[in-house]
Amino acid sequence: MLIDGHGREVNYLRISVTERCNFRCLYCMPQKPFSWNPKENLLSFEELFEFVKVAIDEGINKIRITGGEPLVREDLDKFIKLISSYKSDIDLALTTNGYLLSDVAKKLKDAGLKRINISLDSLKPAVAASIAQKNVLSKILEGIEIARELGFKIKINMVPLWGINDSEILDILEFGRERDIEVRFIEYMENIHADSKIKGLSGKEILSAIKQRYKIKRVGRVKNSPSFSYEIIENGYRFGLIDPHKHDFCEDCNRIRLTAEGYLIPCLYFDEAQSIAKAVKEKDIKKAALILKDVLANKPKENRWSEESSESSNRAFYETGG
Ligand code: 5AD
Ligand code: SF4
Repeated sequence: MLIDGHGREVNYLRISVTERCNFRCLYCMPQKPFSWNPKENLLSFEELFEFVKVAIDEGINKIRITGGEPLVREDLDKFIKLISSYKSDIDLALTTNGYLLSDVAKKLKDAGLKRINISLDSLKPAVAASIAQKNVLSKILEGIEIARELGFKIKINMVPLWGINDSEILDILEFGRERDIEVRFIEYMENIHADSKIKGLSGKEILSAIKQRYKIKRVGRVKNSPSFSYEIIENGYRFGLIDPHKHDFCEDCNRIRLTAEGYLIPCLYFDEAQSIAKAVKEKDIKKAALILKDVLANKPKENRWSEESSESSNRAFYETGG
């Protein structure tokens, strides 16, 4: 079992397999970065897997693959297969923008992937295109449909933005409800990489849009998660609200992050990180385990939004997988 410096059990590893993405979402990566991390700095799937084995042996039992857009990295199914073969009962999930999903969903399923979170910010082709800066909607919907048919557990993420998709909160909610897919509304998180003109809806504003049609009740915060669960009283449908500006979820935070270059990041909101690249390249398992434990020992207690300056890390979400 892995315990951090504040007594929290850490059992959840998020791996960003690439910072690259085929979308240019206004809230994340509106422009192609001036330079990508050079390809030679990227760890291979075999190298990443060396660390995954250490992490699993130490107590990680939930892994989520993120990006950037993880499906732009070739042969992702092979990486998933390595992990699921090592520990078949691992909770293995993927976060994707859905664009390439219909082509590879079957391969991912066969490789042992269990759950998929898909971003869906609009049901209007032109609005979806204005957020991702690309004509994406039909491919996303196709991806969702195929993933459903294959029996994946799915969640949908929406980031509501004023003047862009704020009028579609109820539409996305209905889309999820009709298909029995949980929708999670995410408060836009300010960051220096995003388009400076956008303004996100607060959690309260998101709920008030929903209350125009439905009576809802609070269910509670999802354990080990920044998501708070709500229920529509008349039909029992549950949806989530993620408010990254809070820090009440920090007290039972169970996660750490690994980037494609091998940096282990104890908290999304801080710049601290240590590299496991050398250790895995040399197959120095002991060293990798030591670094993991050292990173955990120094995991911050909570994020920084509550402080006066309310700064977060300048690291881009597309590097760390959000
Ligand atoms: N604020 C809130 N959510 C974000 N995401 C990406 N960038 C931001 C941001 N600045 C979310 C996307 C996607 C997931 C990968 O992260 O909506 O669902
Ligand atoms: Fe790509 Fe996801 Fe960022 Fe959009 S939010 S640019 S899909 S990584």
